[in-house]
Amino acid sequence: MTHALLLSFSPHGKAAQTFKLARALLRDVVPDAQVTERDYGSQAQPPLTREYANALTTPGGLSGSATALSEQLIVELEACDLLILCTPVHNFTVPAALKAWIDHVVRIQRSFTVNEQFEKVGLLKDRRTFVLVSSGNARKGHEPDFLTPYMTAILSTVGIQSVDFVYLPAMVRGAEAVNRALEQAHQQLSVAISSGL
Ligand SMILES: Cc1cc2nc3c(=O)[nH]c(=O)nc-3n(C[C@H](O)[C@H](O)[C@H](O)COP(=O)(O)O)c2cc1C
Repeated sequence: MTHALLLSFSPHGKAAQTFKLARALLRDVVPDAQVTERDYGSQAQPPLTREYANALTTPGGLSGSATALSEQLIVELEACDLLILCTPVHNFTVPAALKAWIDHVVRIQRSFTVNEQFEKVGLLKDRRTFVLVSSGNARKGHEPDFLTPYMTAILSTVGIQSVDFVYLPAMVRGAEAVNRALEQAHQQLSVAISSGL
């Protein structure tokens, strides 16, 4: 059985268009999937604690309580074989809520390690991943896009290489533009999800 993890990093949480689209698609395309839904957008992770920062940067300093939240988020991620991240673009890049999740999930000697060539090597297994990106801008190329290369690099750092991006542009330009973006994303995503299962 497919275990999907559906995460929202929008301030709208589970009411975000990207989240609602992904949820509906999972119901249609993979009706027997076990789906875990989380709103990490309107209820973002707390700021990193000093103990957590010390635990990550002090050799041998990984302690249970400092890394408890990080561990919980990594275990949740490890349990899925289909990962869907729903995120808006904020100021050309990922929203702070997504960055907070990343800072808890990308943890040395847990989700990645460093080899003798000083390269970061992922320790999680690869899994089918979709990043649904909602933006106000009408189309890609109109402004810098730091989100796509950043998410590609950071997911790869923990071992997740099978990543597809689905863009929903012009989401602030009225109902017609929103419907068009949703329709195109629905089509792209339903083909992609069903072909990979
Ligand atoms: C703080 C903030 C910054 C934003 N920055 C950008 C941006 O740099 N580029 C862009 O295209 N849209 C930007 N937007 C618009 C959002 O990406 C757009 O409204 C998106 O559809 C929101 O998705 P959501 O409803 O899932 O949160 C920004 C919105 C906010 C609130």
